[in-house]
Amino acid sequence: MENFSICTPTNYVFGRGTECEASRLAAQAGWKRVMIVYGGGSAVRSGLLDRVKDSFTAEGIPTIELGGVKPNPTDDKGYEGIALARMEKVDAILAVGGGSVIDTAKAIACGTLYEGDFWDFYCGKAAVERALPIGVILTIPAAGSEGSGNSVITRIEGLRKLSLRTDTALRPRFACLNPELTFTLPPYQTASGIADMMVHIMERYFTPTEGVEVTDRLCEGLLKAIIAEAPKVMAEPENYDARANIMWSGTIAHNGICGCGRREDWASHFIEHELSALYDVTHGAGLAVITPAWMSYVSKSKPAKVAQFARRVFDIIADGDSEAAKLGVEKLRNFFRSIGLPVTLRELGIANPDIPTLVRKLHENKGPKIGGYIPLTATDTEAIFRESL
Ligand code: NZQ
Ligand code: ZN
Repeated sequence: MENFSICTPTNYVFGRGTECEASRLAAQAGWKRVMIVYGGGSAVRSGLLDRVKDSFTAEGIPTIELGGVKPNPTDDKGYEGIALARMEKVDAILAVGGGSVIDTAKAIACGTLYEGDFWDFYCGKAAVERALPIGVILTIPAAGSEGSGNSVITRIEGLRKLSLRTDTALRPRFACLNPELTFTLPPYQTASGIADMMVHIMERYFTPTEGVEVTDRLCEGLLKAIIAEAPKVMAEPENYDARANIMWSGTIAHNGICGCGRREDWASHFIEHELSALYDVTHGAGLAVITPAWMSYVSKSKPAKVAQFARRVFDIIADGDSEAAKLGVEKLRNFFRSIGLPVTLRELGIANPDIPTLVRKLHENKGPKIGGYIPLTATDTEAIFRESL
């Protein structure tokens, strides 16, 4: 096991009605003027936005709204939000939505207090030293941004989708997690969220680091729980306990606890980010295509961990590691199919992907080799795209 340090300062407030806690937590933190960031309309249609605004008014905290964040959020919304935050002199940001909304809120939070271009943080030209505090009311369990220090934004010019990673600067101060708010999710978004959280665990699970039994078992237990709860939420969207288990899994999957003491992988995410940048597909659905293809590819030269995954998560019984790994990948694909996700690029709606461009941009953005389990070159990543066709 490697040395590690973990600080997850987010106050998670979980359960029915917890969205109404946000204004109290904001008042407790001394927030005086809050920008509420939200998406394309689901929070308006459900009445959630009005409820939240009313609770802030009751607490005596004025709010300013910034709506219209799109999935796979783009930098233009960040610039718009930064200008508004400065003009309105807000001192905190509340994200009401999913990963796209939270990531935009994070871009605004660090960009507002920075004299330069906020994109400097995403392309690695500058490190975040200060940011406005952020609170979250989560409406979709998927990206895990409510507990992570990360933000993923696409620059429209050149369609570069890059992730900014901070230890603590961009971790939300609080996250209100009410599973009932997820009852209205369309099945495809529920399923994509499930794939995303599973892959957040798997990116940490597939490691070259030895001697990490505790985090291995944490990852395996979480994956097994998600696999058991997933069919329930797909069949009964208003099953509170199933929604609650999925929601909490999505947060733990990505707040860092599953990665302690180990080198992580992240190749599947980097590969998928190129797909969602170029073709604007749903991130989790893209992962349902890419991750099994990645597993199949790496298990040709390094099957041991994939075999362990197969045996412990899917209870595969097979003689050799290669055979176990192969059966595990098949099980994973079947699981994704069973909840309505695509497992090929064609099924994802990309019949003729521009693989040379995807590979070129991937390595321009992430360097000549990507991934911790096995470092992959452009030849390898091209093969993974082809395996996904
Ligand atoms: O925009 P609205 O109208 O709200 O609709 C959204 C959106 O269309 C809808 N939705 C959300 N909650 C709903 C709902 N519809 C009905 N009822 C509800 N309760 O769902 C759609 C998807 O929302 P989005 O926020 O895009 O989903 P998600 O949470 O999957 O976020 C995806 C983004 O997060 C990034 C992804 O790359 C992608 O850009 N990621 C961020 C990470 C992070 N910051 O740590 C890590 C992840 O790996 C990921 O890369
Ligand atoms: Zn993800």
